[in-house]
Amino acid sequence: MKDARISHLRARRIWDSRGRPTLEAQVELSDGSIGLGQAPAGASTGRLEAVELRDGDRDIDHGGFDIQNALRQCEDLLRPRLLGQRVETQAVIDQHLIDADDDPNKSRIGANTTIAISIACAKAAAISQGLPLYEHLASSSLKTDEKAGQPKRWQLPLPQIQIFGGGAHAGKRIDIQDLMITCPAASSVAEALSWTASVYRAAGEIMRKRRSSFGVADEGGWWPDFKRNEDALDCLVESIEEAGLRPGEQVWIALDIAATQWFSKGTYQLALESRELKAADIIDMLSEWVERYPIVSIEDPLAEDDDDGFVTFTKALGHRLQVVGDDFLVTNAQRIRKAAAMGAANAVLLKPNQRGTLTETYHAWLAAQELGYEGIVSARSGETEDQSIVHLAIGWRVGQLKVGSFSRGERMVKWNELLRLEDQLGDRAYFAGRNALAPFRSR
Ligand code: PGA
Ligand code: ZN
Repeated sequence: MKDARISHLRARRIWDSRGRPTLEAQVELSDGSIGLGQAPAGASTGRLEAVELRDGDRDIDHGGFDIQNALRQCEDLLRPRLLGQRVETQAVIDQHLIDADDDPNKSRIGANTTIAISIACAKAAAISQGLPLYEHLASSSLKTDEKAGQPKRWQLPLPQIQIFGGGAHAGKRIDIQDLMITCPAASSVAEALSWTASVYRAAGEIMRKRRSSFGVADEGGWWPDFKRNEDALDCLVESIEEAGLRPGEQVWIALDIAATQWFSKGTYQLALESRELKAADIIDMLSEWVERYPIVSIEDPLAEDDDDGFVTFTKALGHRLQVVGDDFLVTNAQRIRKAAAMGAANAVLLKPNQRGTLTETYHAWLAAQELGYEGIVSARSGETEDQSIVHLAIGWRVGQLKVGSFSRGERMVKWNELLRLEDQLGDRAYFAGRNALAPFRSR
C-alpha cells in the first residue's frame, strides 16, 4: 500500500433482508481500491447497544425505519473528517469515527453509520494491499498471537446454525428465540454444513407432515408452530435423529433464550404457556432442559439487567455449558470485565454493530480472551449480502460463528464464504471443531 488515502466516501440507502432501509458505505482510496460496508440491524436489541440512527417518525417514509439522518451524518460530519486519511491500520481509522461523537454509544452519528464505514475501510485497505480481508484484519489488529514472519495456520470457526426461529423473529410464536445446532464432532466446515443441511431438511419434512410448515422466520429457521417450548426441543432432537445423526455425540443443541424479551414488570413471561416465572424458576427450567436434552450452549438465559440471575445460572451450569452473553454483554469490553468480576457468563457474542466499529469489537474480543471467555462472531436478524463477519471470525481467531439458519440468501452467502475459504486455505487452516467449546475441552 503506497500511501493510499481515502479519496471518496459515499453512503447510500440499500435494503436489508427484512426489506427495511439500511446504510451502505463506499470508500475509495487514491490507488483506486474500493470497499463496501453494509450495516446489519437487530430486532431483539440490548438496551446498552450502541445507538442505531433511524429517522424515527412513524408517519414519514418506511415506518420510521428510514436512515436519511444517518446518511446526512456521513455526508456532513464524517466525510470531511475522513477524506485524506490512511486506512491500513484499522484502529486509526476507527478512532476518527469514535472521536466524531461525544457519546461513546454513538447516539449522534449512529452505530449503523460508523459500522458501515468501518467495514468499508477495512475492505478497501485489504484490496489495496492485495490481501484477503481476514488476513488484513489479522495483520492490522492491535495484537496477534503469531510471531511475525511465521507461516500462519488459520482457524475456521465452528458454526452455530438455527433450525427453528422463534421469539421476536417469529411473531413470538414460541418463547425461545433461536433453536440451533452445532456440530463439534464434524471434521471440517464442509462436513458440519452438510450435517446441518440434513437436519434442516429433516426438520422441514417433520413440520410438513404435521401440517405445521408455514415458511421461515426472520433468520431462515422453520416457523415454530409448537404448543410448548419443550415440543420444539423434542422436534429438534427428532430432526437430528431423522437425519441419521447422533444427538449429543455428533450434533448438539445451542439455544438463544433472548430472555430480555420475556422480561416485563419484574417477572419473566412465557407467553406460549401463559406462565409467569421468577429468575429462579427460569434457572430450574433451563437446568432441567440441560439434563433432558443435549444442550451445550445457552445464550441470554436471563434478562440483560439480571446480574444476580446470570451469576446464579453460571455458578450452577457454567462448568458444563457455554453461557453466552448477548444483550447482557453487548460486545462491550467494559461489560465483559464487569461480568467476569461477578462470575457471570463464560462466552460473549460479538456483533460489530452493537459497538459501531471493528476496533471496539476487537477490544471486546481481547477482553474476553484475557478473561477466559469464549467468543462467537454473530450476524443480526436483519442482514445483507455483506460477508465480512466470516473474515472477522477467521482473522481474529474467534472459535464460533452464528449467522442464522440454513436458508435465505443473506445467510447462505456467509456459510458459502466460510466453505470457500476452507477450500481455498486447504492445509493452511484447521477446523476449530470440539476445541471451540470449553465444555468439550475439559472432558
Ligand atoms: P437480533 O437477534 O439480531 O434481532 O438482536 C440476534 C440474537 O439475539 O442473537
Ligand atoms: Zn441473542
